[in-house]
Amino acid sequence: MQKFFFLTLLFLLPGYSTFCQDSYSLTDSGKFVSAKSAEMEWWKKTTVYQIYPRSWFDTNGDSIGDIQGIIEKLDYLKDLGYETVWVSPFTESPQRDFGYDVSNYIAISPQYGTMQDFDRLVEAVHSRNMKLVFDLVMNHTSDQHEWFKESASSRTNPKADWYVWKDGRGKHGMKRPNNWRSMSGNWAWTYCPARQQFYYHAFLPFQPDLNYHNPDVKKAMFDVARFWLAKGVDGFRLDIISAIYEDSTLRNNPPSGRLTPSDKSLTILFQHIKYNFLQEQSFEFSTELRSVIDEFKNPDRFLLGESHGDESWINGFCNYKGKKGLKAIFLFNAVSTPFKATKYRKLITKFEKYFPEPLIPTLVFSNHDRTRTMTRLGGSVEKRKLQTLFQFTARGIPFTYFGEEIGIPKVRIPLKEGRDAIAIQQSWIPQFLVDGNKETLNRDECRTPMLWTSAPNAGFCPPDVKPWLPVASNYKEINVEKQWSEPNSLLNFYKAILHLRKETPALNEGSFEIASKLCSPKILAYYREYEAKKYLVLLNMSKSKVKNPFSGGKVLLSTHPIGQDQKLLPFEGRLVEVQ
Ligand code: NOJ
Repeated sequence: MQKFFFLTLLFLLPGYSTFCQDSYSLTDSGKFVSAKSAEMEWWKKTTVYQIYPRSWFDTNGDSIGDIQGIIEKLDYLKDLGYETVWVSPFTESPQRDFGYDVSNYIAISPQYGTMQDFDRLVEAVHSRNMKLVFDLVMNHTSDQHEWFKESASSRTNPKADWYVWKDGRGKHGMKRPNNWRSMSGNWAWTYCPARQQFYYHAFLPFQPDLNYHNPDVKKAMFDVARFWLAKGVDGFRLDIISAIYEDSTLRNNPPSGRLTPSDKSLTILFQHIKYNFLQEQSFEFSTELRSVIDEFKNPDRFLLGESHGDESWINGFCNYKGKKGLKAIFLFNAVSTPFKATKYRKLITKFEKYFPEPLIPTLVFSNHDRTRTMTRLGGSVEKRKLQTLFQFTARGIPFTYFGEEIGIPKVRIPLKEGRDAIAIQQSWIPQFLVDGNKETLNRDECRTPMLWTSAPNAGFCPPDVKPWLPVASNYKEINVEKQWSEPNSLLNFYKAILHLRKETPALNEGSFEIASKLCSPKILAYYREYEAKKYLVLLNMSKSKVKNPFSGGKVLLSTHPIGQDQKLLPFEGRLVEVQ
């Protein structure tokens, strides 16, 4: 049976898109309005850059990146124009899921540095007038965390109820408590001989889920958040917040009639994972967590939740029964949206419908779990520039995954050589089945090192060191140093749009409106407006030259050298000041 899980994964990773629940929309008006407040919160206007620390910059030659490496490369991000840095986990961990398996929430993993290094990082970020956000993995710990070791030791220890334990079914209690599957496709329960019980895990077996029905667990985790907030961290990205609560009566999941997920339902092997994900109680939890971070002011702090699912439901994390919760949700649906004007229009219209002001959508095309954007777009720099223009001019918080700005491609790494826990779990799958798939099953492929220069190892680590993952073979053509010196490079396009966005209130906090009359099956057009200033974004998302539906105005930025006013070149996008 295990062998069928890969099928799920092949299709699960692309979308997790819609989760069938009753609609919980905040507004049905569909009107695109913005508060135009002079005091709009910093996190609504910001731009976020995600660093995967292991792959960013190795300063001590141990083959993986480190905190010192983040500090040394901050000026790169500052010069590019980013305002917020999100760093994937660097707290203590056995690294089976590279930090998403935490064994101590308030200690730095020695592989990355020390607490003093971390304090220097906070200082270095703030002295550049930037913000620092990092991952808080609240849903589960590592099975090597002291909490779990204690909890697993007996049914009577003080932490016995800190994880989700349940007796097995059947005469000998060896049958799983219910039919739940985990997000990684396998069964969600693992047997523990010491307790003669099963524990639940929303992800992999070495990542047991904490039991948030227990108030002590909630308190302990909220104190972890306070610890870091007191140290000056500007907020958190909350790993699989969608899984924080499970149905307390552990009802069996219903069948779905589908093998793989679709836009209509999140299914795993004919199962709708209705009772172990996206419970309403998780929304309530978000409002409690919000109260915790609201204890910290000047500046106010950011809370970003990672959740798959339909926007009409998951906006409940941000506003639950009129109470404020998380500040934003990492919206995955953009990632696999086909590169078409009509599809992007539909997407942004939906985002506006379910995340209208005072909420805000996020604009995301990749992360450390997903296929590299450049590969997804077939290696087309033109398409990447157009997508970037969209990402930084539509209303929302744009996220860049490290290396996207230079177009690092997916680096093919066979499953059998994978260091990623998912790849290891699925390593028996014949490689030819994986190769043809759009989504990667081996997440190493999107985590290969940053390409800094054309020196050996692309400048990621010293030349005589073997990096933990191979660098992309085309690093001599694609690297920061080279693109920095080429005016028309993807990197310089990022720089231009980042600076324009920062300096132009309409782009970072203005109202948003689809310019319906200018849209067509090939063109997406929309306005951003703030006080007396109005801008038009025109995106020709087709491979044909098309008539420019708008003449006049002043072109502030174009994906192509500005040519004829009457025509838009294939995949040309323009930002036009109209008044
Ligand atoms: C989502 C993270 O993005 C992923 O990398 C991780 O493996 C799982 N959550 C489990 O923590």
